[in-house]
Parts: sequence; C-alpha cells; structure tokens
Amino acid sequence: MAKRRKVLVLHGPNLNLLGTRQPEIYGRLTLEQINRKIRSLAKELGVEVEIRQSNSEGELVSWIQAAPKQFGALVINAAAYTHSSVALRDALTAVGLPAVEVHISNIHKREEFRKRSLIAEAVVGQIAGFGANSYLLGLRAAVEYL
Ligand code: DQA
Repeated sequence: MAKRRKVLVLHGPNLNLLGTRQPEIYGRLTLEQINRKIRSLAKELGVEVEIRQSNSEGELVSWIQAAPKQFGALVINAAAYTHSSVALRDALTAVGLPAVEVHISNIHKREEFRKRSLIAEAVVGQIAGFGANSYLLGLRAAVEYL
C-alpha cells in the first residue's frame, strides 16, 4: 500500500496499563482491545495502520522523525508528555506530517496542568474526552489528510 494510505498511531507513557489504570478516568478496555478497534476501523476505511506504544520520550521522538518515510498521517496520544515535552512538539513541527492529538479523558476538565498541551500547536487538531472512541474519531480525522 502506498505511504499516503498509511497512518501511524502512537501511544505514549503508561497507556500500556490501560484496563487497570484509573478505570474511572480511562475506562476498562486494555490497550490491545483499543488497538483491535483501531485496526478494525482502519480496515473499514480502507487504510493501513501501524500502532506503537512507548514509555520513552526519545523513542517517540525517533518514531515521529522517521514517520514521513512510511506514513501519510499520524494519530498521537502523547499521554503525560503532552504537558511536558518540548521535544515531541519540536519533532511534530519539524516533520510537518498531518497529526491528530487524541486523549481518552477530557484534559480540559481535569487538573490545571493537564489543560495545557505543548503539542497542540504542532498538530492539525485535538480530540479529547470520548474514551477509547477518541482514537477512532482521531483516525477518521487523520484519514481526511491522506
Ligand atoms: C491522557 C491524558 C493525560 O493527561 C495523561 O497523562 C495520560 C492520558 C488521556 O488519554 O486522557 O496519560 O493523554
């Protein structure tokens, strides 16, 4: 499949713990269950997806840097790095790949420090607060940019 029909989905730190991590905020689906939903929607939309998770900021930066060679768009839940990482913001800005920022919870309804996203200005737009469905809405949005 041509690179322009391929979307990279990145999950940031602690998202590997989904299912048991604060289910009242993040729900009870595991990361693998969410990934299955993403893959099934991708199939329905006729696009290819690759899904990766990392707890390491540097690894996420490297994946973003390399993404344009293989992918036409990006969906990213940078998790806690959303609020702290100038490096992720700079990487997203540098590659200029259309990216959609997603969050399971509504970060604007939580602690003050979560309301600020350092990556928001480096992405096309943000989807937050729809639970696991945020990823599916994010994928639909990203596909529009392929
Ligand atoms: C999150 C929100 C972040 O504030 C938090 O650090 C996460 C997950 C979300 O998906 O709601 O780990 O990105």
